[in-house]
Amino acid sequence: DKRIGILTSGGDCAGLNPVIRAVVHRAIGTYGWEVLGICRSTLGLMTNPPDVTKLEIDRVDSLLTMGGTVLGTTNKGDPFAFPMADGSLCDRSHEIIDNYHKLGLDALIGIGGDGSLAILRKIAQQGGINLVGIPKTIDNDVGSTEISIGFDTAVNIATEALDRLHFTAASHSRVMILEVMGRDAGHIALNAGIAGGADVILIPEIPYTLEKVCRKIKERQVQGKNFSIVIVSEAVCTEAGDLIKKMDRFGECRLGGIGQYLAEEIAGASGAETRVTVLGHIQRGGIPSPQDRLIAAAFGVEAVDLIAAGKYDHVVTWQNRQVGCVPITEAIGQYRAVDPQDTLVKTARGLGICLGD
Ligand code: F6P
Repeated sequence: DKRIGILTSGGDCAGLNPVIRAVVHRAIGTYGWEVLGICRSTLGLMTNPPDVTKLEIDRVDSLLTMGGTVLGTTNKGDPFAFPMADGSLCDRSHEIIDNYHKLGLDALIGIGGDGSLAILRKIAQQGGINLVGIPKTIDNDVGSTEISIGFDTAVNIATEALDRLHFTAASHSRVMILEVMGRDAGHIALNAGIAGGADVILIPEIPYTLEKVCRKIKERQVQGKNFSIVIVSEAVCTEAGDLIKKMDRFGECRLGGIGQYLAEEIAGASGAETRVTVLGHIQRGGIPSPQDRLIAAAFGVEAVDLIAAGKYDHVVTWQNRQVGCVPITEAIGQYRAVDPQDTLVKTARGLGICLGD
């Protein structure tokens, strides 16, 4: 019999609750183990007593359709340099390790993006923690897996936003610009842009010129289409190569900006009336899509099976319609940006979508 812990780390996304549900079903239903949910990521192991909750099958059944994470999460406070009340930074990793052992945990499932998985692995290596990782992020930038939990729902939401913007664009003869998340990767913009019929898709991986973008808008006008739809990733730079980042008071978050820049530049250069929508955290919430629920189910079951097999220090993956696993170091060492040779880039070009280059 085993006692395992599970935590969600980093930004929330749709699909976290379904993965918690899947882990509980497999661990308790199949193996008869005990599952402790650790609250607010590693913060739950930095308190005394630790902030944990016992998970049971009948407690998790309602989680399938719920966004967010019932365990809570945080993307602030690296345990190795934890911000203290007096402004100093303190290494608190040993508290996490001590509590893992005090709780009598045999293994820990950590659900996170590349940043969180890297931190969790460092703690695990230092403290003899049997860690298995599950990749989640709307950005879909974790290496070694084609899909991370949360990405599909985010693409659905961005696509729906484009569908809606089409009507206003056409009714008012406007250029509507949708700024989407993705951190440094353009996966959300590329996928939603194709699915939502955008005329221009701008992603950080493909440098653009405003001239090409405006030419596309003009071409459409000549064809009698007096409106255009532009989707842009948050990390796209200005034409001069400057990254527009508005920092919050923690000095970290991007709060939008490139959409507004493009709106002003396009209006100035083409005379078109422009409007911007910054989709923001809408992309992270809501009901998980069927695909996110499926991937969550597959990842949850596989993670528990890896523990049963004693295969730690691995992260579950999705490749060629197969669930599998790779060493965590492999996944976190291979940041996955959009490959300019990607089949979807080719598809977008084939449809006549302007990628700005
Ligand atoms: O990594 C997920 C993500 O949503 C990014 O796409 C975005 O840049 C960032 O997190 C926003 O972070 P926060 O929730 O701290 O504003």
